[in-house]
Amino acid sequence: VGAFTAYDLEAALAACRAAADTGTGVIILLSARSYMDRDGEALLAALLAVAAHSPARACVQLDHCDRLEVLESALAAGVGAVMADGALLPYEENVALVARAVAVARKHGSAVEAELGSIQGDEDTAQAATVGALTDPEQAEDFVARTGTDCLAVSIGNVHGHYSRPPELDLGRLRAIRSRVSAPLSLHGASGLPDTLLQRAINAGIRKVNVNTELRIAYLDATRESLPDAVDGTRLTVLHAAQVAAVQSVVQAKLAVLGASSSE
Ligand code: 13P
Repeated sequence: VGAFTAYDLEAALAACRAAADTGTGVIILLSARSYMDRDGEALLAALLAVAAHSPARACVQLDHCDRLEVLESALAAGVGAVMADGALLPYEENVALVARAVAVARKHGSAVEAELGSIQGDEDTAQAATVGALTDPEQAEDFVARTGTDCLAVSIGNVHGHYSRPPELDLGRLRAIRSRVSAPLSLHGASGLPDTLLQRAINAGIRKVNVNTELRIAYLDATRESLPDAVDGTRLTVLHAAQVAAVQSVVQAKLAVLGASSSE
């Protein structure tokens, strides 16, 4: 499944339209920074409304968050999933955070994604990032068994934002994790990964793919290009239509890559 970050209605609508056109489901990601912003609850309500009206099956997930009270608040507000990200905490604290998040999520019928190893790079700002600590397969088995997480984000050479060197994924490590862990595995930082590499990762066990930076680039390019036309006549509809179309086209291309992959 493809998971795409939305900072506003345009991006969320674009993800749902692309999914509908492709005939797949989709996850709309809300960054914790957006949610914790002053009107984050209103934005979440808007994204949930987009998902509810979507012709494609759509779920809203709160992305990377290490604060239990924020995870709880998003779950109470109706998200289908949260990412309880304790990757930067000591191991036992990561286990405790995720186990608590899972217990709360169960009450709401929602799911939890966790991270082990450390995926470097900021989730909302694209800078050149270098690869962080890789996920240890043995520890991943222990982690999933002890937390009950529904999905595990792996660090196998992937980063958020821009890759500072041509990306290389440790697919052997991914296969080793997959052989020990029954929960679905997710790949963050899919922006900038060549399609063939993404497909190989899916073939080696990835089941959820997160994309953000490429959407922001498309959105900003479309904004820049359509601005003169929009300003001529003060037409916001022109601007919004261009933003939706640009993001939709990136999402559609990613979903096509996902759909063209097969599991081993
Ligand atoms: P990119 O911004 O590198 O696509 O990463 C997105 C992501 O993993 C969101 O959690």
